[in-house]
Amino acid sequence: MSIISKDIQKAIALLSADKLVAIPTETVYGLAGNIYSEKAIKSIFETKKRPFFNPLIVHIPSTDTLDDIVSYVPEKARLLAEAFWPGSMTLVLEKHATIPDIITAGKDTVAVRVPKHPLTLELLKQLPFPLAAPSANPFGSISPTKPEHVERYFKDAIGQVLDGGPCSNGIESTIIGFENDEPIIYRLGALAIEDIEAVIGKVAIKNKKEISPDAPGMLERHYAPSTKTFLTNNISQELKKHLGKRIGVLVFKSAIKDSNIISQIILSKKGDLQEAASHLYNAMHDLDHQNLDVIIAEKCPDFGLGKSINDRLQRATFSS
Ligand code: TXA
Ligand code: MG
Repeated sequence: MSIISKDIQKAIALLSADKLVAIPTETVYGLAGNIYSEKAIKSIFETKKRPFFNPLIVHIPSTDTLDDIVSYVPEKARLLAEAFWPGSMTLVLEKHATIPDIITAGKDTVAVRVPKHPLTLELLKQLPFPLAAPSANPFGSISPTKPEHVERYFKDAIGQVLDGGPCSNGIESTIIGFENDEPIIYRLGALAIEDIEAVIGKVAIKNKKEISPDAPGMLERHYAPSTKTFLTNNISQELKKHLGKRIGVLVFKSAIKDSNIISQIILSKKGDLQEAASHLYNAMHDLDHQNLDVIIAEKCPDFGLGKSINDRLQRATFSS
């Protein structure tokens, strides 16, 4: 018999009573509720101020339970699940008839993943139902990668923040859908395209314009700080446009020396894209709370996780 920690016992009790719990995952913290509780799911949408047309991701404890959630699994989806679950990949597949419409926003597909965090995996194993969990942030704002971020956003609105420390990957899962059994990336994320292609060969990326509002994670402005943010390949040049303002800077690996900069965060001194991704949202939260006039962010190299980081930075900016 395994010993269940007090925190997990509390989470089980709250979730079984139609309440919400913020859960740690390796990507970002999620705002979780029982997928079969209409009350819980409605309160997820209300707490986040998320429009009902934006479907939720279903979190399951292992690939073995996938058939309870979906009615059909293409061969390439099966290969991906074997390769990457538990992990930072969400599959969008034909939904099982028992999945409530409110989860999928009326669509006949459902997004599903097995997250890779020991606390949440343990919780999912103990619960008799899967968890719907969007990122635990108000709609459109920066996703939380630490318990403090969730507490700052929602304070008393949710029953519990299950503390699993900082998220190791730090950006959301990569979402992959299927059209005529062929994979298409709906959202870039914590699993690099190169890793996916090593398993199933070339994959297409869905054109942004075709997507919204079905997958609002792909909306042009999303994951955004409230401080006006600019994205550039050349920080020194961008700095000149903002002289006299309180300027914060977010760089990939090399510090910029300039007396006009009030605050500067380096994502990875050793130039490691995985490390940079894991620090990205925390850096954006930090800069956003320093009473700055502008944040100037530097683009990362455009390969591997750099593509996903640049995607999020692009959506954080005003003038794109
Ligand atoms: O890493 C993650 O995926 C985190 C953690 C908590 O698991 N969750 C997350 O959820 O990022 P959320 O709700 O913030 O983003 C889910 C995205 C949305 O953009 C939504 O539109 C898309 O998944 N989505 C959900 N169901 C879909 C479907 N049936 N078809 C297309 N997109 C779907
Ligand atoms: Mg989100």
